[in-house]
Amino acid sequence: MEKRTDFGSKIGAVLASAGSAVGLGNVWRFPTEVGNNGGAAFIFVYLLCIAVIGIPVMMSEFLIGRHTHTNTIHAFAKLAPGKWWRIEGIAGVFVAFMILSYYIVISGWTLFYLIQSVGGRLQADRDYSQVFTGFVSNPWMPILMGVIFMALTHVIIAKGVQSGIEKSSKLMMPLLLLIIGILVVCSFGMPGSREGLRFLLKPDFSKLTASVILSAVGQAFFSLSLAMGCLCTYASYFRQDTNLPKTAVGVSTIDTIVAILSGFIIFPAVFSVENVSVDAGPGLVFITLPSVFNIAFSHVPWLGYIFSGFFYLLLLLAALTSAMSLHESVTAYVLEAFHVSRKKAAIAVSVACMTLGVFCSLSFGVLGDVKLFGLNIFELFDFTASKIILPIGGIIICLFVGWYLDRKLVENELTNGGKLRFKLFRLYYFIIRYVAPLAIAAVFLRELLP
Ligand code: TRP
Repeated sequence: MEKRTDFGSKIGAVLASAGSAVGLGNVWRFPTEVGNNGGAAFIFVYLLCIAVIGIPVMMSEFLIGRHTHTNTIHAFAKLAPGKWWRIEGIAGVFVAFMILSYYIVISGWTLFYLIQSVGGRLQADRDYSQVFTGFVSNPWMPILMGVIFMALTHVIIAKGVQSGIEKSSKLMMPLLLLIIGILVVCSFGMPGSREGLRFLLKPDFSKLTASVILSAVGQAFFSLSLAMGCLCTYASYFRQDTNLPKTAVGVSTIDTIVAILSGFIIFPAVFSVENVSVDAGPGLVFITLPSVFNIAFSHVPWLGYIFSGFFYLLLLLAALTSAMSLHESVTAYVLEAFHVSRKKAAIAVSVACMTLGVFCSLSFGVLGDVKLFGLNIFELFDFTASKIILPIGGIIICLFVGWYLDRKLVENELTNGGKLRFKLFRLYYFIIRYVAPLAIAAVFLRELLP
């Protein structure tokens, strides 16, 4: 078996983890949730969730990974030999596998839209709802796009931790941030920018219902890539001198800034066009936005061309760095459990995921009628992973670190054996033992109970 490597630099560790966190969840899911849940008031609660629950849970995942220096399944088995806790590791790798197989489907769509946009095909008066339905229900094209996307992810993972994940994150994350900057500036020039900004910045607290608060908790978890061992796996490559609390704060800050700036890009655009509702749902990015770009820039088509091209490139980069982390969680396990080379492990994961991905993709077309509990294959995967296993995983991680692990071990890991000062340790510990598990349990029950 190959020797285990670490991330070569601290900035590499931060950018790779931020790459995992910043994904379709930020650019597509966050604005949709903001639109559905009343704008600025939702953002306010979301920020609170990130600070109070998200960062402590991220620190916990980091400490499990860095302490054990192994894949997620072995990490739990090592810390709790022969105990049931190791189910959490198994669930983590399993869910990462499951999410990856449908994540590549949406990622494939972003690739298609990028190609369309560069080819000038999104700069025309078309019925974008039909364009979208026509594309996703076609049996071949979305699969081809998914395969290309998977191949990209595969090549990076096969190259390994330093020359694959770290190097590409160091390239892609700054590029992603630059594109966001350009798009935010462009979008401030749009006619609807004032209205869009007002929607994002002026909170109406009367909109804050229990369900809005709980959606914010759910979104925070998804966006930060928590509870599935992704960040645990990355942390197993952190060096011994990495400051875990600081890294968690850094990663969460980047993730949150990207989410909010995505709102700054999307809402001014959406408000620039009449008769488009802000809560357009999952179609927001693939149906509403192309038409919005088209109408809003009808007087300066070249600007629309740049705007939409950059937008889908942004989405693609975000998706790729997240897919890498999902892939790596599974590959690291296969590689270490079966003592095979990284290349072989990565091929096994890519092929297996792509096979499942084909079924997910076809569920938008020919397999649309194959349903269980009223959900098609794609929806079933998404539902089981993000609404069932993810919250349970979150609760288990909190209970594991807060109640099972020795407090000394936890404190040692977060302070690098006493070398660093972590003044808020007691607050952290209180949150991990009580606040976070109870809050997640509340989300979970709300999602499941009618
Ligand atoms: N956080 C990513 C996003 O915002 C998705 C993701 C990657 C994820 N790894 C994860 C979500 C682990 C939950 C758990 O799109």
